[in-house]
Amino acid sequence: MTLAPGSDFEIELRPTETPLPDEQRVRQMADPGFGRYFTDNMVTISWSAERGWHDAQLHPYRPLELDPAVMTLHYGQAIFEGLKAYRRVDDSLALFRPWENASRFQRSAARMAMPPLPEAAFMGSIEALVKQDQAWVPQNREQALYLRPFMIATDVGLGVRPSSTYLYMLIASPAGAYFPRGLAPVSVWLSEEYTRAAPGGTGEAKCAGNYAASLVAQAQAAEQDCDQVVWLDAVEHRWAEEMGGMNLYFVYGSGPNAKLVTPSLTGTLLPGVTRDSLLTLAKDLGYSVEQGRISTDEWQAGNANGTITEVFACGTAAVITPVAQVKRLGAEWMIGDGEIGPVSRRLRDALLDIQHGEAPDSHGWVHQIT
Ligand code: COI
Repeated sequence: MTLAPGSDFEIELRPTETPLPDEQRVRQMADPGFGRYFTDNMVTISWSAERGWHDAQLHPYRPLELDPAVMTLHYGQAIFEGLKAYRRVDDSLALFRPWENASRFQRSAARMAMPPLPEAAFMGSIEALVKQDQAWVPQNREQALYLRPFMIATDVGLGVRPSSTYLYMLIASPAGAYFPRGLAPVSVWLSEEYTRAAPGGTGEAKCAGNYAASLVAQAQAAEQDCDQVVWLDAVEHRWAEEMGGMNLYFVYGSGPNAKLVTPSLTGTLLPGVTRDSLLTLAKDLGYSVEQGRISTDEWQAGNANGTITEVFACGTAAVITPVAQVKRLGAEWMIGDGEIGPVSRRLRDALLDIQHGEAPDSHGWVHQIT
């Protein structure tokens, strides 16, 4: 079967005949953590220069057998996405703005000289796996089934060039809180030494290498007793960009007059789906919202003079995570009282309400699966 762009998606369904026994699945789902357990099945779709996308299959979750010279292992042509399937209050299953992930996956592919996966194949693979493994979608509002679409280069060879074959895969994992301490605020280290992304680089792409390159700065944050690293721009080392793998929001003022500011998408930030949804949701809740620039000095001064009242990070995995303590070379400060602030809390609740079907989907963000 070949998948021409725009054609209908067809997938061969060959699920496992030996799913994990109910009792073991229920035990894993009682305390899933993040990315620890995986469902019974997965999807693979192949691409070659001659055949395009072909051979879409849902089959048992299993290890890959790869030649040691396969290109992805050497030069890092590897991209991924992250989205969740939610069990809603009426027990139906739904995705949240999955077409945004489909389109970002295509943009990431373009940046890494990989072939774009058609939206129909992205959506079709997810629908097939979520339907097949629906017993793995948790009930609890703080949990969901985390979906991980990804693509690797599969040509064998050590010449540095784009591969002529690729493998798209989709795996799924029941997920609770991303951070071990749940909703508890995190402490952050402002990294003035390392940068995540430079103009013209791969910062906008969700490629594996961006995350590999972040680990040493994350380790430095840990040495400073901080949970997470905050990335600054690569040119001046003073504009806040992201926290770890998540986008950032700053809250100025309080109550109905609060204003939210998130760093602009300059080309070096990952355009997060949660970030984008909050731009709209915050307006719905009556707050003013801006995309702009926040320097580390403004952050420190805004905290000292009380204009910045809350800071939070946002992403699919952890939703909204408050930032309580900030450290940089020679200074540290606390934001708020160390608890999640009222604006962050309200936005988090509003987003989860839509995702779990407890509030109307007035922006057409929800994609029902069952
Ligand atoms: C997210 O916030 O969803 C992320 O991208 C983090 C992920 C790498 C676990």
